[in-house]
Amino acid sequence: MTKNDDIKACRDAGVAEYCDLLAARNAPGAKAYVRTYGCQQNESDSEKIRGMLAAAGYSVTEDAGDADVLVYNTCAIREHAENRVFGNIGEIKHLRERRKDLIVVLCGCMTQREQTAERVRRQYPFVNIILGTFVLPRLPEYIWRCLNGEKHITDLSGSGGTNEGLPVLRESRIKAWLPVMYGCDNFCSYCVVPYVRGRERSRAPGTVEAEARRLVEDGYKEITLLGQNVNSYGKGTGEGVNFAGLLRMVDGIDGDFIIRFMTSHPKDATDELIETVASGKHIAPQLHLPVQSGSDRILAAMNRRYTAEKYLSLVSRARERIPGLTLTTDVIVGFPGETEEDFLDTLALVREAEYDSMFAFCYSPRPGTPAAEMDGQVPHEVKTERFARLMSLQEEIAQRRNLNLVGRKMRVLLDGVSSRAGRLTGRTPGNLLIEVEAPESMVGTFADIIVDSARAWQLTGALEERSCRAGT
Ligand code: 5AD
Ligand code: SF4
Repeated sequence: MTKNDDIKACRDAGVAEYCDLLAARNAPGAKAYVRTYGCQQNESDSEKIRGMLAAAGYSVTEDAGDADVLVYNTCAIREHAENRVFGNIGEIKHLRERRKDLIVVLCGCMTQREQTAERVRRQYPFVNIILGTFVLPRLPEYIWRCLNGEKHITDLSGSGGTNEGLPVLRESRIKAWLPVMYGCDNFCSYCVVPYVRGRERSRAPGTVEAEARRLVEDGYKEITLLGQNVNSYGKGTGEGVNFAGLLRMVDGIDGDFIIRFMTSHPKDATDELIETVASGKHIAPQLHLPVQSGSDRILAAMNRRYTAEKYLSLVSRARERIPGLTLTTDVIVGFPGETEEDFLDTLALVREAEYDSMFAFCYSPRPGTPAAEMDGQVPHEVKTERFARLMSLQEEIAQRRNLNLVGRKMRVLLDGVSSRAGRLTGRTPGNLLIEVEAPESMVGTFADIIVDSARAWQLTGALEERSCRAGT
């Protein structure tokens, strides 16, 4: 399929009134640039933003200097993410000076906080539209209003919604994001998400299943079910389908594809979920189980509602039942009050859990969250020193685990072209990155690969048929 097919698909998908108005008004060649910060949920929202923009007659450009509309889909999870956004929108001031008719949109988690919206209005007056997280579908309307003379629009209204029926212009033809729920009810004491994304709301299971079926029919080879805490999926749908049930529904679809999901809150990961992953036909042997800390004292202060022991028992049940499980996690170092002993508990847990990979973060105080007000904020140097120790332990573990994979055969989804000539990148069933010598024509297919070398962050392998031939 070509980009034009994409645009047609978006237009067929029930285009809103304002998309049609814009499409009729836009000159041929009108362009939009969308920049995404943060998590997969944001990547997925950006695909909807691109879908709406395509339906409104814009073609998507990678060059901000070439665009008529600039959209920055922002992240608020850590201060660093926010600073990057402020840096980047600061840089577009000169574009605005050159192009008076340029429309600049800021949306995503950062904008949902009134104080941030206020700062943007004050310091970056060239931003035309500030769009909160609950009003994404109003983007075409607000662009239309700006084209018709309004200079500034801020809309932080709403508190729910699941963005049904919006056109989607996907980044990839191979892998698809499929949001199953939005928001979060957990209120971990460090986290801004419940404040900016609102309460949990799940999409209807039949809608998710139908979308997955269409993706498989369209040739997608990997579907990732997305939510801040997929394990609490189903509340409020009135359909009695929990996340394990939803996984089974999607797993029941015929075709050659793999299902992944994220993120699972450990407190809600059930044996039913583990069994469903273990017995699934398409479900990847992979769990992303953010632990955040190995200290019970810190876990309690984080409001995580599990202990290190409970977490490790979940891990050992999962390892027992899911052969070849790839386990990944998120860890925060330097949470308020974290002592050296607490940190050593984290290192001990990491050693025991033996993760394949980890996302580690230095704690970043988020205004409005309980942890930001806690005593015992940890100095920056202590955080970075702990971060380095944690990463070096993880590197050692990943290297050891990856070396164990050398010589194994794996069914790999080849998903892209490597920067090294003649090689493709791919993902193992557990989602580990692997590089393989293979022709470009194989991108988008599954191939049997024999792992032939391993580093901490990446495997390399050879197509099975080639390694057999080489060996005969
Ligand atoms: N500081 C540092 N890391 C954070 N995360 C969430 N909030 C913060 C914060 N305030 C991390 C958690 C979460 C991941 C998506 O981001 O580890 O799992
Ligand atoms: Fe944030 Fe906790 Fe919800 Fe994850 S579960 S989004 S860390 S509040």
